[in-house]
Amino acid sequence: MVERSATAGVGTASSDAAAATQAEISAEMATQAEISAEMAAIERDSRPDEPQPRLAYPPYRSSILRHPTMAPHRVDPEAVELLAPVFGDRDVDPLDADLTVQHDGQPIGERIVVTGRVLDGDGRPVAGQLVEIWQANAAGRYRHQRDQHAAPLDPNFTGTGRCLTGPDGGYRFTTIKPGPYPWLNHHNAWRPAHLHFSLFGTAFTQRLITQLYFPGDPLFALDPIYRSITDQRARDRLVAAYDHDVTRHQWCTGYRWDIVLTGTGRTWTEQGAHP
Ligand SMILES: [Fe+2]
Repeated sequence: MVERSATAGVGTASSDAAAATQAEISAEMATQAEISAEMAAIERDSRPDEPQPRLAYPPYRSSILRHPTMAPHRVDPEAVELLAPVFGDRDVDPLDADLTVQHDGQPIGERIVVTGRVLDGDGRPVAGQLVEIWQANAAGRYRHQRDQHAAPLDPNFTGTGRCLTGPDGGYRFTTIKPGPYPWLNHHNAWRPAHLHFSLFGTAFTQRLITQLYFPGDPLFALDPIYRSITDQRARDRLVAAYDHDVTRHQWCTGYRWDIVLTGTGRTWTEQGAHP
């Protein structure tokens, strides 16, 4: 989840950390966009939507080495994977959904509420679903040993939370708006501010992971992870909407974001770990 390094590359593009400039990465993404437009024109009838990211997207350097080159080998899951509880070793407490009350003091940053619904492809609510989030703090730093970014940790912020969806499929988190952070995909690379989301379904084998972005982020155009999703409508589905009805007087701003699990309007989900 916190991946700032990359190993040596193979093929036409190197995955060496910080080997390329932003201009070079942007040029590669522009080329990818042209290819995408051509593909869309050719395949409009059979493949009008491409909601999932390209597994091999050379501007996103670690995808060069990570994407599968062969069809997946299917195996039956172990019974324990189908039947074991997915909630961890203790029940989900309502306070687990408030990332601002996990320590003695208040964390630094813009307090926000993020809420929405988990839905299936027909718009039906998915109730009783475990939703987990993890994120950087307001300075763009994860509380994780692999994150040695020169930004301060917040002693009052861990950056993890969870809740169960209600009968209407609704979830709700109170947290701090994360900052953008640098990573080593290329020189001077910065990720747009985001929250990582995990949904477990009813078994460990059904876990889905995705990311929520915030509207109007100037880093969208520069980020190869965001842009590895080539369909703009699919990208837009990852961006929460500012909702003034969620915003609370003298307390916090609010965002709304629905997660759709199936169908053509489904939310992008990750095939591997992303920073
Ligand atoms: Fe991240």
